[in-house]
Amino acid sequence: MKPAFSAPPDRRALYGDVLDMVAQPTLEDPASLGPRYRPAHWLLMERGRIHAVQAEEPDASWTQERHPGRLILPGFIDTHVHAAQLDVIGAWGAALLDWLERHTFPAEARMADPAHAAFISGLFLDGLLAAGTTAAMVFPTVHKGSVEALFEAAEARGMRLIAGKVLMDRHAPANLRDDVVQAERDCGDLIERWHGQGRLSYAVTPRFAPTSSPAQLAMAGELMTLRPELYMQTHVAENRDEVRWVAELFPEARSYLDVYERFGLLGPRAMLAHGIWLDASDRALLHERGAALAFCPSSNLFLGSGLFDWRAARQSGCAVTVGCDVGGGTSLSMLRTLADGYKVQALAGRRVTAWDLLDAATRGAAEALGLGHEIGSFDVGTLADVVVWDRARSPVEQRRQAVAQDLHEAVFAWLTVAGEDHVVSTRVAGVERYRRSS
Ligand code: GUN
Ligand code: ZN
Repeated sequence: MKPAFSAPPDRRALYGDVLDMVAQPTLEDPASLGPRYRPAHWLLMERGRIHAVQAEEPDASWTQERHPGRLILPGFIDTHVHAAQLDVIGAWGAALLDWLERHTFPAEARMADPAHAAFISGLFLDGLLAAGTTAAMVFPTVHKGSVEALFEAAEARGMRLIAGKVLMDRHAPANLRDDVVQAERDCGDLIERWHGQGRLSYAVTPRFAPTSSPAQLAMAGELMTLRPELYMQTHVAENRDEVRWVAELFPEARSYLDVYERFGLLGPRAMLAHGIWLDASDRALLHERGAALAFCPSSNLFLGSGLFDWRAARQSGCAVTVGCDVGGGTSLSMLRTLADGYKVQALAGRRVTAWDLLDAATRGAAEALGLGHEIGSFDVGTLADVVVWDRARSPVEQRRQAVAQDLHEAVFAWLTVAGEDHVVSTRVAGVERYRRSS
């Protein structure tokens, strides 16, 4: 029997500067409401859930962990990333369509090997955790086994993960093409096995309009009509050559986005990556359908795709979330991605704030995915996906933090300068899954 004074292992209290978002901030206004900052507080986690945030030191029934001066944030939610593309991060010299052919498709083909798929899936999820990301919407590959491997690895880590078999039956190498009948069968099996299993959900995943035949897009749309509780993820209007190609392939569609609309793929659980080359009618349609956009700034810069218009998206009422989009993006770190997000908007004369960026990567993403009751904030009862961050790792950073005049200045400078090496500890449903060594 345990001695009476030992704290139960399922009651843990973290001490530090607790920061989360409670409402969507007014875009480009650093003084906006939205952030909830509770410095020198205790975050209490019981049986994997947020129990309370309080100033008083908890009693001896709580195991204490002190992080004075450190930030404690909800785990980041990455709404667009490709597990199989770790091998092509930083691949030189190509825009989207060439990059897919030259670098990405060969790397994805290797996922046919179950041992490789298991290895990459583990490496990928551990990389997310080490970067402070605890939930993600992920593209595996066309291979059924790549989805199994990813879900198995996520389940082993207790992570909130949304993924599905990539659908592509044309304009891809033969070893990456499926067909409508086999794809439908694979989707059915995977949905049966994984959707709603613990923290896992299935997303119908047509890669993008050019790589699915009309028959395959119709199958995907029928699946969404039959099972509206599923998610849908794809790419849209990322690159101008891609947009022209889609117009040639689907001359009857009003726009690239309209292809997905025609096949019944747009709904409140749809996540569309990029959306750079949309027009006002497209944005209004996204809003009407309740679909969300994943802004992928690092990828958009690296592939030279263009500058996403966050302000226009906000004005249309459409939700904006953020994806690192590795391997088009160059880092699994949402912090680096958010810093790129600021710079992309700045290039177009818009100045998003630390609150806009943090919200899009936590509370706002959770809301867009219908998961606000589970992740994205420290509301009592949500799952304890919690990351402890250093504010500064070098004398220069310490100096920058020391001269900050207010909370927004400090958090924005941190967000701009810090990286994944600032993660001290990452917890998923209360369980520590990453701890920085030394
Ligand atoms: N469009 C279709 N496939 C992809 C992909 O893998 N990455 C990016 N960035 N865009 C895409
Ligand atoms: Zn992508």
